[in-house]
Amino acid sequence: MRRLIDRLERDHKLTKEEWIAVITERADRDYLFERARTLAKQYYGNAVYIRGLIEFTNYCGNNCYYCGIRRDNSRARRYRLSEEEILDCCKEGYALGFRTFVLQGGEDGYYTDEKLEKLIRKIKTLYPDCALTLSIGERSRESYERYFQAGADRYLLRHETADHGHYRKLHPEELTLKKRMDCLWNLKEIGYQVGCGFMVGSPGQTAECLAEDMLFITELQPHMAGIGPFIPHHETPFAGESQGTAEQTLYMIGLLRLLKPNLLLPATTALGTIHARGREEGILAGANVVMPNLSPVGVRKKYELYDNKICTGDEAAECRHCLQGRIESIGYKLAVGRGDPVEDAGGNYV
Ligand code: SAM
Ligand code: FES
Repeated sequence: MRRLIDRLERDHKLTKEEWIAVITERADRDYLFERARTLAKQYYGNAVYIRGLIEFTNYCGNNCYYCGIRRDNSRARRYRLSEEEILDCCKEGYALGFRTFVLQGGEDGYYTDEKLEKLIRKIKTLYPDCALTLSIGERSRESYERYFQAGADRYLLRHETADHGHYRKLHPEELTLKKRMDCLWNLKEIGYQVGCGFMVGSPGQTAECLAEDMLFITELQPHMAGIGPFIPHHETPFAGESQGTAEQTLYMIGLLRLLKPNLLLPATTALGTIHARGREEGILAGANVVMPNLSPVGVRKKYELYDNKICTGDEAAECRHCLQGRIESIGYKLAVGRGDPVEDAGGNYV
């Protein structure tokens, strides 16, 4: 396996068969993580970037089988933050040193293009030194262009799985992988810094599906890839399925670092949920971003994508300081600033 790990580090790609072999065996993990850390350090030193996540609506028109805020979960207590509440989150975050805000929500038609443009302009006027990331799902190319013109810098849209058959098992008929991928290509062409990503251990996922994810990421060359374990939610069709493992998620993080050394790779909240030191282990496997929650404590529990989500009772300041302690305990430092991706060896951002 070392041979393939070395080749991935050298060439930044593998064939589908090679990916399947590496992902199935998951051998030489200590070696993989050591190489991944070395590469992350070459590009980012010992900095871990911090992004403030604002979960501004849990209304969702989609019905993905895995997600706790899906349309058909009638038990979900729905909320929307007002513009004023969102701006309060930014204000608090700014004071805590955050220079990136991520607006994430369900697919909520209440937030029309006009409302979003107004909000984006306001945030960028108040905080011109901050990067603004949107994560609001699939919209038309024209809408994406409008948000970009209004000042949005980045967009996160996990592709969830790059295998068509597997996509069908995770989503109802009206959602297609083609549409999701088209959105990602549109976002990239418009000029956003783009993040895709997938869940590890979602129902029906095989090594072949994960190999497809790696091939898609090789092709798309995103700026960020967000991956975390699938965790069941009790009010979804996948309530009885088993969760993804930290072991496999960490291994995929290590591989992604070798695939694209300057990638922004978050150690996700989901990873921190299934393992007490999940986020620290993520950084030690090659991750370099954390995204603590800036949403008001009163709504946190309601943005319940999966069961037992961590940090739902903690104030933004508590999470910020908790994370700082965790990151420093493993010899890294929390980096304030926008945390843009750095150039790769060829002088390209992507
Ligand atoms: N609506 C936007 C979208 O679809 O991109 C953003 C919000 S969506 C809830 C954010 C991400 O949560 C999804 O891309 C998915 O990967 C993740 N997620 C949803 N349910 C999950 C679960 N049960 N376990 C782990 N991650 C989950
Ligand atoms: Fe939220 Fe530790 S990161 S309490």
